[in-house]
Amino acid sequence: MFGNKKNTPQIDKEQLELIKNAQKRIKQKKRLYTHFILFLIGSVALIVVNLGLHVAETFRPLNVDWFVFVVGFWLLLLLYHAFNVFVVNKFMGADWEQQQLDKLVAKQKEGITKLEQKHQINAPELKTPEKKKLKINKTVTIIAAVAENNAIGKDNTLIWHLRDDLQRFKTLTSGHCIIMGRKTFESFPKPLPNRTHIVITNQSNYKVPHGVIVVHNIADALDAALEDKQPFIIGGGEIYKQALPFADKIELTRVHDTFDADTFFPEVDVNHWKETSKTFHPKDENNDHDYSFITYERQ
Ligand SMILES: NC(=O)c1ccc[n+]([C@@H]2O[C@H](COP(=O)([O-])OP(=O)(O)OC[C@H]3O[C@@H](n4cnc5c(N)ncnc54)[C@H](OP(=O)(O)O)[C@@H]3O)[C@@H](O)[C@H]2O)c1
Repeated sequence: MFGNKKNTPQIDKEQLELIKNAQKRIKQKKRLYTHFILFLIGSVALIVVNLGLHVAETFRPLNVDWFVFVVGFWLLLLLYHAFNVFVVNKFMGADWEQQQLDKLVAKQKEGITKLEQKHQINAPELKTPEKKKLKINKTVTIIAAVAENNAIGKDNTLIWHLRDDLQRFKTLTSGHCIIMGRKTFESFPKPLPNRTHIVITNQSNYKVPHGVIVVHNIADALDAALEDKQPFIIGGGEIYKQALPFADKIELTRVHDTFDADTFFPEVDVNHWKETSKTFHPKDENNDHDYSFITYERQ
């Protein structure tokens, strides 16, 4: 979709299935949570209707209030739902899953054909946001914590402790695809919950835990985030540099200090980026340095 890397565009079904599984898991859990909330509200409502408003109060099978049966039956359904989500993981059934996968493949194929016919775009050579917009209908967002001297890391770890930055990272990226270089991925003890990980590496046999997607360039990473309207580029230095031309937004935490580092954030051309929000936070017991949360949008 984004480049001329393949002469004949092919959908990698295996990759799509991985993405679909990861995203399906998130959706399933959200649905279960909604079901649980509905159950709570519904049960209270049934009790109020039966005991408070005295509706069909005399209807007491086996000498028990009718709401007990209804709530009990609903509880069984809820347990069945939870069982399917957490134990057999097939709530919608195998046919439904296959149908979704087929739809996804068809949609992606259609998109590729249209883009190729219309624009004949060579994505890696794209320089301007206008061209970029022709090919991507997403808000590609870079998220990074960057020191005053643009330092972002040393020895494959972060070089500061800012609890609020980690919290902000979690809030912004949860439920989304996160795209990262192999080294950044390896800096995590394990994959982060509730996010689809897309790891870029040159290695053809790079082994990752189930659900993590491996690709070999930025364009494929954005392709893999096909269903996400706001995929996040989360680093590190190499990937930020390559992803900057694709990005529409930068969520930056500016750490107001300078650090000795071996990895740096690329220079951002202020002519192309507009600061749309900025909040300053002084250091405190949870955050070792003064910092500002800054949002830039491409102009
Ligand atoms: N402050 C922050 O917000 C922040 C965020 C993230 C990371 N970090 C820090 O940044 C540092 C890591 O950054 P880094 O620049 O060293 O590494 P990186 O960008 O995380 O990963 C680099 C690796 O990505 C793969 N790669 C890069 N470009 C590729 C391409 N075009 N095609 C295929 N594979 C490609 C290569 O993997 P292979 O070698 O396997 O081919 C390369 O070695 C760490 O210190 C980390 O803590 C900081």
